[in-house]
Amino acid sequence: MKILVVGGGGREHAIAAALARNKTTTIISVMAKRNPGIDGIAENVLLLKETEIPRIVSFARENGVDSAFIGPESPLEAGIVDALEAVGIPCVGPVKSAARIETDKAFCRDMMERHAIEGCPKYRVFHSAPEALDFIKNYEGDLVVKPIGLTGGKGVRIMGEQVDRNGAIEYVKSLHGEAVLEERLIGEEFTLQAFVDGTHLIPMPLVQDHKRAFEGDIGLNTGGMGSYSMPDHMLPFVTSSDYRKAIEIMKAVVAAMERTGQPYKGILYGQFMNTAQGPKVIEFNARFGDPEAMNVLTLLTSDLTEIVHHITEGTLLPSHVSFDTQATVCKYLVPEGYPASPHAGDVITVGPHSDALLYYANVEKNDGGLVTQTSRTLAFVGVGETLEHAERAAELAASGVKGRVRHRRDIGTKELLERRIAHMKELR
Ligand code: AMP
Ligand code: GLY
Repeated sequence: MKILVVGGGGREHAIAAALARNKTTTIISVMAKRNPGIDGIAENVLLLKETEIPRIVSFARENGVDSAFIGPESPLEAGIVDALEAVGIPCVGPVKSAARIETDKAFCRDMMERHAIEGCPKYRVFHSAPEALDFIKNYEGDLVVKPIGLTGGKGVRIMGEQVDRNGAIEYVKSLHGEAVLEERLIGEEFTLQAFVDGTHLIPMPLVQDHKRAFEGDIGLNTGGMGSYSMPDHMLPFVTSSDYRKAIEIMKAVVAAMERTGQPYKGILYGQFMNTAQGPKVIEFNARFGDPEAMNVLTLLTSDLTEIVHHITEGTLLPSHVSFDTQATVCKYLVPEGYPASPHAGDVITVGPHSDALLYYANVEKNDGGLVTQTSRTLAFVGVGETLEHAERAAELAASGVKGRVRHRRDIGTKELLERRIAHMKELR
């Protein structure tokens, strides 16, 4: 099978690597910047912005690809799946109208409410500043302000954490009142990703991401600094009842989308806040998480090419999907100053890392070696029988990198995990 992989981050390197474990699969790539990892796997690469849909469609046809795997959200929003499927190339990824589950936060919340899907926080959608400001001024308690469209995970402002009421008011003004305002949820976050073929949903291991730039969960929100998963595919602060509820919520979304004539196909990413009342939905994404894709795809023991086939045919069964029962820890190296003022153009050297997998992201490879860009540089994934083993492998590899990059040492450590468990105990 010949598969087009769209996107050039750590997530897409993990997708390409998992597909290429099937020796009969050929990878073709479209990415904005040359990811050295994908470059080493792909038979043919086109360097192009991932939203240049007509040119991507021509490239896919010229290369005779059988199907496409869409990594990031921006091409989904631009209608890449609609365009590729119109010329007979089936995709892992939803059509534009179904991708609104991620690209339009008002659509997502209204869909949950209309279909009485559990786990929806109290929310209101606004299109005018005076009304939104009135609401904030009169609301008792903390609110979260979300711009309606895509912001690369950096557009949310949380009252009581990042801004006070006045800060929230100023922020809503800057958005001209185009925002979703919702109750602030308190708890522990987890990610549940699933393969979806329009009807059937097959879950992957739970992962916890770390959005904040610095150790101890402080600093600005980033695309994600790293993530971990446990050998039993659960998380110690998520009970089996929480897990069942989260799965039911995701299945209800898939059923609702199918009922309303826009079946959802691709990867469904649920970001949940586990609260005193159980899991609530922070958001859905229409794609794999980055870094979370690296955790689960490293563990995938079944053939991703075959899964692609079943997703596009609508014939996906639980027996098509299996994962190794090991722990994973992913740590991203990022440029100094990331995310606010990243320093780019620095040469870095990778040390010995035989116990961890290396996934490249926003980094250039030239004759002088690896050179940082402005976004996340590269990631190491440690795999082990226990979280401790996986963490040690990832940490050893990450701390062996020389140059103007940094990473979070605390991801996947016992201390951090115990803090999460204690927080959940305190809430319940
Ligand atoms: P998002 O862009 O929706 O992923 O949000 C970014 C981050 O904001 C999430 O990872 C959460 O930590 C936080 N967040 C979003 N919505 C809420 C909410 N309703 N309550 C508390 N935190 C939230
Ligand atoms: N890691 C969060 C995301 O990919 O949206």
